[in-house]
Amino acid sequence: LRDVESDITEILFSEEQIQGRLAELAREIERDYEGKDVLIIAVLKGAVMVLSDLVRELKFHAHIDFMAVSSYGSSTKSSGVVRIVKDLDAEIAGRHVLIVEDIIDSGLTLNWLIGNLESRGPASIEVVAMFRKPEAIKEPVDVKYVGYDIPNAFVVGYGLDYNEDYRNVRGLAVLSPHVYGGEDPHA
Ligand code: PRP
Ligand code: MN
Ligand code: MG
Repeated sequence: LRDVESDITEILFSEEQIQGRLAELAREIERDYEGKDVLIIAVLKGAVMVLSDLVRELKFHAHIDFMAVSSYGSSTKSSGVVRIVKDLDAEIAGRHVLIVEDIIDSGLTLNWLIGNLESRGPASIEVVAMFRKPEAIKEPVDVKYVGYDIPNAFVVGYGLDYNEDYRNVRGLAVLSPHVYGGEDPHA
């Protein structure tokens, strides 16, 4: 087994901190959606940890669905051009939709997704994002529920990957520059 600890310089939020904040968000969501049916949509793959922790924290019955999207080539990620790799199973017309994301970086993925889902005629769309990087935002996103605003560092864990690795690190960690060759590829 490869030693993950040597690839990490700092834990920004422990698993316990994340769970605590998620419980607070769940109480807000329970209050806001009282008496309503909610479809919770997770954006694969990063959002799977938040989804699974959030739905088990919620005291109401929540239906879940998944969507997978991909930017057209990593070099054009900044273009915001996205394609659907896996669409929803469910129709969302007339339903209350809550999108779950692990992180908002530039905001391009969510802006595209919200626009796409709005065209399907849901009763409402809101977003819950566990993390957000205010310094990296290119297109502002209207996010109702935010776990933590974080610095513009290369973070992994709790679903977030670097080259598909580190998603199963339990907390949110800062990746050591030696892993990605010194320069922050997001910069
Ligand atoms: C990551 C993350 C968000 C998105 C945020 O997903 O999980 O979905 O990027 O970035 P943005 O605000 O700049 O659009 P990614 O495309 O890496 O796919 P993944 O979830 O499978 O890791
Ligand atoms: Mn993602
Ligand atoms: Mg990723």
